[in-house]
Amino acid sequence: MVQLDLADIQGNILVGYGFPAGRHQFFHVPTAEAGRRFLSRILEEVTVQNAQPWTKKPRVAANVALTYAGLEALGVQDAVLAQLPAAFREPTRQRAERVLGDRARNAPCHWDLDASESHILVLLAVSDITETKPDEAAENVRGIASACGVEPGPCQPVQALPNRREHFGWADGFGQPAVEGVPPGHRGRRRARAGQGVPEPNGITWRDLKAGEFVLGYPDEDGPGTLGGPAAPLLRNGSYLVYRKLYQDVPGFHRLLREQARRYGATLPAEAPRDIDHLCEVLAAKLAGRWRDGVAVPLRERRRVEDTKRLADSASRNPDNNFRYAALDPHGRICPIGAHIRRTNPRDALVGGGALSRRHRIIRRGMPYGAQWDGSEQDSADRGLIFVCFNADIERQFEFVQTQWVNDGNAFGLGDDRDVFAGLDGGSPKLVIQGDVPFLMKRDQVVFTRGCEYLLMPGIDALRDIVATRPGLVGP
Ligand code: HEM
Repeated sequence: MVQLDLADIQGNILVGYGFPAGRHQFFHVPTAEAGRRFLSRILEEVTVQNAQPWTKKPRVAANVALTYAGLEALGVQDAVLAQLPAAFREPTRQRAERVLGDRARNAPCHWDLDASESHILVLLAVSDITETKPDEAAENVRGIASACGVEPGPCQPVQALPNRREHFGWADGFGQPAVEGVPPGHRGRRRARAGQGVPEPNGITWRDLKAGEFVLGYPDEDGPGTLGGPAAPLLRNGSYLVYRKLYQDVPGFHRLLREQARRYGATLPAEAPRDIDHLCEVLAAKLAGRWRDGVAVPLRERRRVEDTKRLADSASRNPDNNFRYAALDPHGRICPIGAHIRRTNPRDALVGGGALSRRHRIIRRGMPYGAQWDGSEQDSADRGLIFVCFNADIERQFEFVQTQWVNDGNAFGLGDDRDVFAGLDGGSPKLVIQGDVPFLMKRDQVVFTRGCEYLLMPGIDALRDIVATRPGLVGP
């Protein structure tokens, strides 16, 4: 079993904090000296991955990530920079448009979070908002920055919604990879863990994913993950962080759902309930692959009308994730082939069992921003998801999921159908819900990109090395 250097890996990568609110503060570094002064001041405050769950949560958890431009600005040597992956080196605005499909209504010219001039991102999470105001925590870090000659950039507030909800109304955050080497104390109940890792060929058991899929310098699903060359000290125990601001058109989504639920009802067997609120919940569950309380559709295809009426206010604490698709539901009759969780983690559904999925997993640590929807058609305030994910290879993991599985349906035999939530403009205007009579649902884009940055969240030693201008890493 791999031994992870937990004291060197920043917190929130392998185990989520689950804190109720935070601020994401970007900074611009005018000179390398100022940037390194700032890093040295905040280094002692950076939260690491504890080996054991906290007995007392910190009031504020702080984590630091750097953009490629940030590494340049901090004086990281050219030989190190040249070794970093192309996806990370290319300016994100340019790459988002070119590779991710952030065009038309998602193009960078529409973004309201512009961190393109930023170098350092400090992610702050507060454990108790009655004790610590997130704005005060951000103000405190800005004060330190300003004393060091570092300039503040955008500050993005994030806030959890009641019952772990995201803005469309689903309890979120259940489907996460089980990672080798994460101490047992952090893993929650066994039942919840089965189904999070890699499905084994016996059709029953699961094994943990190799840690190198998420943290650099450890064996991954394809080999030893050994780091070499001048960038090794920078990368060891680090993880790439994908940061996307995604605006959610909540009234638009509910309008679409209601309109389509009526049509969907007409395709169901005569004995199926016709209550419109119930039909909305059934269709919503088919689209996501989970009921709104988090229960997975592959494990529970039907809910009673009385139960769906309560879904909006309940969140399953630890839903069972132990399901596969290939044997029980190969054609998507239970959980549609294009459902959000089936596309973003197809488990054993693709050719080769779990072999194709295991190299495209991501750890999600996103949080909602903006106030909860008041339920009225008029309330289209700015709200959405700050999508944050960790991976060892942005191109093979996040970008693959976004471009091949979310923005395209070809891998699943769905032509150019796109994902209901995360599929960007373009592609087919329909979604297919398989059933006795397949239902072709109209698709509208309801989530829009409003910002994107790729960052590296280095290990603590790497941050120390930057501060100390370690020869070979920083300097002329
Ligand atoms: C506003 C946009 C989005 C919304 C509302 C959304 C919503 C959800 C919901 C409700 C779940 C099920 C709960 C859970 O399993 O934790 C989920 C799971 C997931 N989502 Fe998203 N999502 C969004 C964007 C994205 C994007 C952009 C990606 C990646 C490109 C993504 C990847 C995933 C993955 C990997 C899972 C877990 C699947 C599993 O392992 O079962 N999501 N999302």
